[in-house]
Amino acid sequence: MNTVASPHFAYRQDTLYAENVPLAQIAARFGTPLYVYSRAALTAQWQAFQQTLAQHPASADALICYAVKANSSLAILNLFARLGAGFDIVSGGELQRVLAASAGIAGVAGRVVFSGVGKTEAEMELALNAGILCFNVESAAELDRLNAVAGRLGKTAPVSLRVNPDVDPQTHPYISTGLKTAKFGIPIAEAPRLYERAAALPHLAVEGIDCHIGSQILSVAPFAEALERLLALLDLLEKRNIPIRHLDLGGGLGIPYQGTDAPPEIDAYLTPLLDQLTGRKKLKIMVEPGRRLVGNAGVLLTKVEYLKPGEEKNFAIIDAAMNDLMRPALYQAWHDILPVQRSQRQSDAPAPIFDVVGPVCESGDFLGLSRPLALAAGDLLAVMSAGAYGMSMSSNYNSRPRAAEILVDGDKTHLIRRRENIAELYALESLPPAPETA
Ligand code: LLP
Repeated sequence: MNTVASPHFAYRQDTLYAENVPLAQIAARFGTPLYVYSRAALTAQWQAFQQTLAQHPASADALICYAVKANSSLAILNLFARLGAGFDIVSGGELQRVLAASAGIAGVAGRVVFSGVGKTEAEMELALNAGILCFNVESAAELDRLNAVAGRLGKTAPVSLRVNPDVDPQTHPYISTGLKTAKFGIPIAEAPRLYERAAALPHLAVEGIDCHIGSQILSVAPFAEALERLLALLDLLEKRNIPIRHLDLGGGLGIPYQGTDAPPEIDAYLTPLLDQLTGRKKLKIMVEPGRRLVGNAGVLLTKVEYLKPGEEKNFAIIDAAMNDLMRPALYQAWHDILPVQRSQRQSDAPAPIFDVVGPVCESGDFLGLSRPLALAAGDLLAVMSAGAYGMSMSSNYNSRPRAAEILVDGDKTHLIRRRENIAELYALESLPPAPETA
């Protein structure tokens, strides 16, 4: 399997670095399992989106709304907020994180869009009071609820409808959202009727059209097809006197997890889409990238606890597990696994094949299967491309404290989340009174 080169996580001689810091040094100081992010990698991805949008006439007015769910670390939200990001949120909790991370940075609430099929009244209230940019509404019932909540607060809620264009993004079924069979969005055929209803409701203001067709998409074609359908809808709405001010293209652009993945560059993804808008009324253009901004900017550092050779299989038992990084167990996702120190062992004749597994009591607890690795107990490994949907999907299963997180910036390392301790895992629990004895 080809490994993915990254300028921010690269070998110098045989030692793997995060920017200018050897990963082994970070592990020695902060322990494992440990998420390590590169500030330069995060910033570079951001700038690639920003520059492409800034250069195209169709996106003179553009907003990048980082999809918070990909990695909701306050430090990462803060970094993007400073760069001028908007945010795509899917819960009141994510909104509160964004606000906490951006205290002192002007105008952030006004750059938030709220997606998701199940917004509660309390979440709507929170978002209306914060003054968010737009609600991406996913059903008729949600329109009515939002109208009622806004009315009660004496406010007008800005809305887009999240339209489901029925396009196949050709990705894993669990992360494909734009097909007719998905719970997401409003079928495009029903959209005109619902836009008319939204326009007639007194406490809603129709602002835009939104769509998100899936995640880890590796070609431009599905995005282009979705946009074409959105533009047909937009024309129809304008004819019916429902003006549209913004177009939200969602997220979904994939990253390379292995050398054979070839997702489009950011400009090669955006430019053809923006070209489709040439000659039309100027719209505010929004995108909601998550994975592409953070995925390759993070690794999960872990230590080999034991080697367990077997008749059929060899296992490398590591101190990270499915609770730290669920993607392999949940989506059969492939993450590259690299030795932090390449040694003589690594360059000797064919490396033995290992299943790299965690200590959790499930057969699905693996981070990589059938990997050629020359290992010894105590070695450090880096699970690559773990910046997106790693920490944010982690859990305490098997009463495992969640990993700490580090942000590397040049030759500096910042602890951005300390490791949990066991007492914190049950701090919210209490014992019922002892049963009365008969
Ligand atoms: N906008 C909306 C409305 C979304 O639902 C999502 C992701 C995004 C934007 C960001 O998509 P991205 O650019 O990251 O592809 N846990 C899965 C991915 C789930 C994606 C859910 N929605 C994984 O680990 O692959």
